[in-house]
Amino acid sequence: MKKLSDLEVEGKAVLLRGSLNVPLGKGGEILDDFRLRSLLATIQNLTKAKAKVVIIGHLGRPKGKDEKLSLRPVAVRLGELLGSEVQFFGDCIGEDTEAKVQDLNPGEVLVLENLRFYKEEKENDPRFAASLSRLGEIYVNDAFDVSHRSHASVVTLPTLLPSAIGIQFEKEIEVLKKLLDNPSHPLVVIVGGSKVATKAALVDKISKVADTVLVANLVAESIKKDNIVLSNPEKVVTAQDAVDEGLDIGPKTIKLFSSYIEKAETVFWSGPLGKVEQEKYQEGSRKIAEAVIASGAYSVVGGGHLDAFLGAYGFRDKFSHTSTGGGALMAYMTGGVLSGLEVLKK
Ligand code: 3PG
Repeated sequence: MKKLSDLEVEGKAVLLRGSLNVPLGKGGEILDDFRLRSLLATIQNLTKAKAKVVIIGHLGRPKGKDEKLSLRPVAVRLGELLGSEVQFFGDCIGEDTEAKVQDLNPGEVLVLENLRFYKEEKENDPRFAASLSRLGEIYVNDAFDVSHRSHASVVTLPTLLPSAIGIQFEKEIEVLKKLLDNPSHPLVVIVGGSKVATKAALVDKISKVADTVLVANLVAESIKKDNIVLSNPEKVVTAQDAVDEGLDIGPKTIKLFSSYIEKAETVFWSGPLGKVEQEKYQEGSRKIAEAVIASGAYSVVGGGHLDAFLGAYGFRDKFSHTSTGGGALMAYMTGGVLSGLEVLKK
């Protein structure tokens, strides 16, 4: 698999598939720019090498063109973070887009409009991928978050251009591989979050490598409801009490979970322990975050709501690695194939 440093990019148009899918507030404001900040290293590497940087990506799940999901505000925020101009163009394929790209000078950065405004992106339409390929001479994928999706810009575009993995994507794989293959023990895994069926499956798979798996209320209920037979039930510790029928863990559970966390050498935490979008259900996740930080364990956290929550409390930098992935992180940790990674290996 090629890395950025293996490519000769000077003067060339580089199509950079980025993680641009940021959470938006009711007024369309960017609630958390962690994914954009994670993309800066690759962008700066390319601009320094005098590439013409053309960033492509998706935002949300639009059905056709939807101004509320335009990437224009993302381009503005990237410009602020980089401290230099980032241009924006309101389409991502076609002659006008090609002309815009041709006007770029080496070292300049351009963000194109949301790929998912075309249904062909999700349908992995080869003609759509071919149209994208006409915009650049090299493809770089730094979008770990969407690497589990077989979409045109993720799996077909890299077959049409010389391709490499971006800096953040590479770091994610390195950290997660180490976590799965060679963790320091005790390894304590904390499983919460809202996609409970996916999480219930994670509990069993991860119990094969973990010493203890701490499970929040709703995920525990889903394990029971779906009659999931645990291969290592002795390693699975479920919540003992709840606030408002599982919308947060209660004080007994905080104490119990913390007693495992304080002895941990490695912690992997996926998904908040309550409905942290509401302040009254944040207590459990906040106390557990504090316990993980105090433990001094090597800590990896991930998943959309948990990321934003930790960011809001200023906790994010206190963890060893915060993943930019949600679904992709789950897919990787449960042994699933990341199609966007496999294609880069070919
Ligand atoms: C994510 O936020 O997990 C990725 O950007 C993928 O988005 P999706 O679930 O809409 O495909």
